[in-house]
Amino acid sequence: MDSIQKIGIFTSGGDAPGMNACLRAATRKALAEGREVVGIRRGYQGMIEGDFVSMTSSSVSNIIQKGGTILKSARSEAFRTVEGRARAAENLQKAGIHGLIAIGGDGTLAGAAKFYEEHHVPLVGCPGTIDNDLFGTDETIGFDTALNTAIENIDKIRDTADAHDRLFLVEVMGRDAGFIALNSGIGGGAEMVLIPETLSDIKKIKSHIHSLMSEQHRSSIVVVAEGDELGGAAEIAAELREDDKFKDIDLRVCILGHTQRGGSPSARDRVLASRLGVAAVQALLDGHANVMVGVIDNQIRLTPSRNVYSRKKSINYELLGLTTLLN
Ligand code: F6P
Repeated sequence: MDSIQKIGIFTSGGDAPGMNACLRAATRKALAEGREVVGIRRGYQGMIEGDFVSMTSSSVSNIIQKGGTILKSARSEAFRTVEGRARAAENLQKAGIHGLIAIGGDGTLAGAAKFYEEHHVPLVGCPGTIDNDLFGTDETIGFDTALNTAIENIDKIRDTADAHDRLFLVEVMGRDAGFIALNSGIGGGAEMVLIPETLSDIKKIKSHIHSLMSEQHRSSIVVVAEGDELGGAAEIAAELREDDKFKDIDLRVCILGHTQRGGSPSARDRVLASRLGVAAVQALLDGHANVMVGVIDNQIRLTPSRNVYSRKKSINYELLGLTTLLN
């Protein structure tokens, strides 16, 4: 669309490794197309406050390998209000920004759709979240790096668990989704994986862990997604400790937390982010709005933003089967 001469770009929500690589790709693609690029700091919050910075090719030099986001990120409460969004639209208009590239997760895309409904500023989203829980792409930017971080830590925990014949409950991120838990559980050889997508029966869990500890294994690792319906690792551990059967089992909890959000992006995340950043700018210039770019079966695909946050991406049930078969 020729009317888009100046493109605003921002990162929003929980940061994810690879967001910088995506900023770099989108900025350089837009510049190569003869467009001006404006970075919006701290996502929607910066849009409301008019915190804009002009981007050149060198603004994104030497960032492909860096975790976090050079434009910073935020979860803006003010953007949830009609007044906040009106202020943001006013600032964009004043700055002459007529198209947006947003890098973030479901909250970012939901905010974008609302903003488009009210103010009609064309926006293309790039899926950036470690959770991998976005419909419309096989993988999100940051998932592969977070998964590798989780597995690296599970390997370390296995060494100490084995040395002491201990049971470890390892909590990984995933408030609503078990992608990190499921994949790190398989890759880390966990004895059990608990995820929010499946209902876990505490009685069965107790009896399975107990039999693993007493009959087959001398150490066991249970990977728990933070959003499991039974609670996080600490809650489940408390439940086990109350049971007499577990009084002789040496049990520890390890919460990996925000270590999974940081670090240099993996090769896979850098390539994915670069492809998506370029594709997002192309989509915007081709006249698309209110869509997210994703990669499905190795092909770039566009999905309406409303589908991204309203439809649930399914976990791979074949992988779930492996967690029981291989423990
Ligand atoms: O959405 C990504 C994520 O890392 C979730 O896995 C996690 O529950 C949440 O963000 C944590 O958010 P915050 O850093 O705002 O506490």
